[in-house]
Amino acid sequence: MSTTQANKIEIIKAATSKINEVDFDNLSFGAVFTDHLFECDYINGEWQQPVIKPYAPFLLDPSAKVFHYGQAIFEGMKAYKDDNDDVWLFRPDENYKRFNTSALRMAMPEVPEFVFMEGLKQLLKLDQAWVKKGNGSTMYIRPFMIATGTGVVANPSEDYKFMILLSPAKAYYSGEVKVLIAEHFSRAANGGIGAAKAAGNYAAQFYPTTLANKEGFQQVIWTDDATHTKLEEAGTMNVFFRINDTLLTAPVSERILDGITRKSLIDMAKKEGISVEVRPVLVSELVEASKNGTLKEIFGAGTAAVVNPIAGYSYKDVYYELPKIENSFASLLKEKLTSLQNKLTEDTFGWTVKV
Ligand code: COI
Repeated sequence: MSTTQANKIEIIKAATSKINEVDFDNLSFGAVFTDHLFECDYINGEWQQPVIKPYAPFLLDPSAKVFHYGQAIFEGMKAYKDDNDDVWLFRPDENYKRFNTSALRMAMPEVPEFVFMEGLKQLLKLDQAWVKKGNGSTMYIRPFMIATGTGVVANPSEDYKFMILLSPAKAYYSGEVKVLIAEHFSRAANGGIGAAKAAGNYAAQFYPTTLANKEGFQQVIWTDDATHTKLEEAGTMNVFFRINDTLLTAPVSERILDGITRKSLIDMAKKEGISVEVRPVLVSELVEASKNGTLKEIFGAGTAAVVNPIAGYSYKDVYYELPKIENSFASLLKEKLTSLQNKLTEDTFGWTVKV
């Protein structure tokens, strides 16, 4: 089948729905999936017939390259339901662009816009009863692509599977987190894959994060691999620092993911009249600001976690607690962002897209 024929989505509906088995008030992040998924295979250089079908496990050859070389990428997005029961996406064009940037870096084929966008919209329409409104409810969307081609020769796969899963979600973290500033481990290096949403970037964090967990920290603030003097990301999120009344965050680079929440918060903060500096932020200036009382806030920003305040950080075995402050930038920006995403306030940026 040629790429141009992959322009109509086949829909195979589930015989029964699992929706009544789900306790939507007590969801663990990413643990429950809706009745259907979207799938499109890439075989012999061509995208095949896209299909929406009942959510189910599938078979792969044990020699599929995803298992051996980790040729796998993903995106994280969310959908929201407004008071009229319309479902909205937040900046989906940005996720689409980033997905294909990741694909290029991982020597995988670009996914056609129709397959990504129309697959997503039709899947959301079919499972729209699963998108709940209010009370922090969202639908977390996980588009991903894996190398399904067989053989353990270390070269790019010829075949791939692109899929989209929907997972009703509430908060990612249950509150403030304590973090450890990385002094040895790093999540990315120049020339590497840090700017791609490659599965291996996340797997590589598990071990250092487990070590941090044993010391009582939920996450790691990643520093640059060469000198460990620059603050780059926090766990699976971008990271912001407030020193006095200035908001600081590192510029995106080959090592730092171009986070969509990150760039939205920068624009929103500027609109609120907050002074924002996008520049390398040094560990030394953070420690200095803690000591002289000018460090007011640290927070992570990402699709899954939205805006997550950090309670304190440890560096070189010293723990620095963040002050409890009123009028925090984290609360203000989280409120502004989630109100816009949930269509409770006007979207003056033009970021929301109706499904
Ligand atoms: C997201 O925020 O969507 C992410 O990609 C983080 C993920 C590991 C849950």
